[in-house]
Amino acid sequence: MPQPKRTMLVTSALPYANGPIHLGHLVEYIQTDIWVRFQKMRGHDCVYVCADDAHGTPIMLRAQQEGIDPETLIARVAEEHRADFAEFRIGFDNYHSTHSDENRVLSELIYTRLRDAGHVETATITQAYDPEKAMFLPDRFIKGECPRCGAADQYGDSCEVCGATYSPTELKNPVSAVSGATPVEKESLHYFFRLADFEDMLRDWTTAGHLQHEVSNKLGEWFEHGLRNWDISRDAPYFGFEIPDAPGKYFYVWLDAPIGYLASFKQYCERTGRDFDSWLKPDSDTELYHFIGKDIIYFHALFWPAMLSGAQLRTPTAIFAHGFLTVNGQKMSKSRGTFIKARTYLDHLEPEYLRYYFAAKLDSSVGDIDLNLEDFTQRVNSDVVGKYVNIASRTANFIVKQFDGELLGVDAFCDDAAAADAYMDGVRGTAFTIAEHFEAREYSQAMRRIMEYADQINQYFDEQEPWKLAKDPAQTQRLHKVCSRILHGFHTLSIFLAPVLPGITARVATELFGLAQNFTWNDLDKARFPTRINRFKHLAQRIEADKVQAMTDASKEDLAAAGAPTGPLAAEPIADTIGFDDFVKLDLRIARIAKAEAVPEADKLLRLTLDLGGETRNVFAGIKSAYRPEDLEGKLTVMVANLAPRKMRFGVSEGMVLAAGPGGKDLYILEPHQGAQPGMRVK
Ligand code: 2FM
Ligand code: ZN
Repeated sequence: MPQPKRTMLVTSALPYANGPIHLGHLVEYIQTDIWVRFQKMRGHDCVYVCADDAHGTPIMLRAQQEGIDPETLIARVAEEHRADFAEFRIGFDNYHSTHSDENRVLSELIYTRLRDAGHVETATITQAYDPEKAMFLPDRFIKGECPRCGAADQYGDSCEVCGATYSPTELKNPVSAVSGATPVEKESLHYFFRLADFEDMLRDWTTAGHLQHEVSNKLGEWFEHGLRNWDISRDAPYFGFEIPDAPGKYFYVWLDAPIGYLASFKQYCERTGRDFDSWLKPDSDTELYHFIGKDIIYFHALFWPAMLSGAQLRTPTAIFAHGFLTVNGQKMSKSRGTFIKARTYLDHLEPEYLRYYFAAKLDSSVGDIDLNLEDFTQRVNSDVVGKYVNIASRTANFIVKQFDGELLGVDAFCDDAAAADAYMDGVRGTAFTIAEHFEAREYSQAMRRIMEYADQINQYFDEQEPWKLAKDPAQTQRLHKVCSRILHGFHTLSIFLAPVLPGITARVATELFGLAQNFTWNDLDKARFPTRINRFKHLAQRIEADKVQAMTDASKEDLAAAGAPTGPLAAEPIADTIGFDDFVKLDLRIARIAKAEAVPEADKLLRLTLDLGGETRNVFAGIKSAYRPEDLEGKLTVMVANLAPRKMRFGVSEGMVLAAGPGGKDLYILEPHQGAQPGMRVK
């Protein structure tokens, strides 16, 4: 059944213009691109836009560090981003920048409509200010000691040791990460978007099927905490757009970033002669989809629909959030070489292989996905090369050599009309299921079904033994039928895989089947099966493990080239030297972990009861991510026994256990050698 033609605008989140694209970003661009290619193959009018997210303090400061204008920085990064995306075959219909005239005009329009409708108010707030750089400091640019646990070198918004969140004014001994100066507090007038004006609208919108269930439930919790005003202004110096009628005040980067989706689409409309304005009207029958990471749901599912609705514009049809990428089961890590830039991947491996692997892993949930490099190698070799490409490489030659490239159609390679109907029913049924999976973003299920289909074709090849038929002149007609049927299967598989492997399948379409362009879903029709094929040309190579190793090595080398150490030192450089006198003050003792329990209110802490052989101590240790409490009980460890007791939110900590590692699951408490006894001094 042909579907009615839909008009759709699809976006991926805008990457910041101060850093390279890495594999974590690519989860989203690949996920979106597969969906868009699928929609286009189905004949829908689907436009995919994106842009660089070019504003904000980090970009301004980065340009200063490099001694260039922000405009020069963002132009350079935009070129790098475009090149990376193109090689991964992310097929944007338009790629723009938030630092553009279109975005300025639209941001001013939306802001003034909100302001004129009474949804903007001002208030004077006090913020940290760097007197040397003469600028207000975002929370991430202030460092100091945690007000709760005293840990040094913590950011202005949260403590990585005890998990506390606080305001930067609460940090002890704060310093500006920009200049090293001690920040002072300074007042300034800010502009706020009155989010609470939209509470009713948002309660309806967030439960009306525009969001995944898990996201909608999470937002329910946020409503319980109340919708707070959103601070949408920043003071000069700031790289962004000045707010109308507010000299020296700029739109916060997150205000004009989502408007950048519309700005990019506007540029597309101007280029192609489409009508942008009617598209934006609240009653527009076009569809609008945003693919985003789960970390930016708040901006897209609350602020953005509220802004649009307050400015009398249409709201999104749906927001599709995805999870984060882990590599080999862990957070991407520069020291392990698993923080892999798009460019580094491209230097070593085929882009389509990552597209296939992500497709094989992705579903419609917000769950994280893991790129296990061994599994990646094995899966791509087995599925893309072994199951898919091999079908054509083993079969095409028989048709080219013995039948001069002529293919038999479905009615000719099936034994009779009933068999042909049954065969095509099978194709259509499979296509229907796969299309439903693509539409629902259940790509892993689509890939599973496609590979099952490939298995059937390979099994048919093995059963029919065409290499034997080829040697028997009495079996020529049979050979022609068998090979045509196998290649029909390959043609079908290529259509199914075209959203995922656009480069390989385009070559199959044009080079092997001699078509003018890549496949559409309509090519599944039996009347559209080509009547000829050309000689098979090599399509895909197996991944060699040494290429993957070279990629991870190069990811480590990237850091070395940047002048930074690799290995654990990259994450935490060695601190300033201390004198011997300071060292001998440390009283390190063997302690037995008598009891270990989680501190429910703290993300990272375990409460340990340590037996020092005559004395017990209560110590809070930030190792919850690495150990289950019950696994620690009875173990010996090394502790600093003469650390002054510190009052923490959950009680007093009387010492510290020694642990090593970058964090997360990789955190090891130091265990002494056998023979150690609680209370022994460590020398
Ligand atoms: O989180 C980010 O990387 C942002 N640059 C995403 C912006 S998406 C949109 F709102 F512009
Ligand atoms: Zn802390």
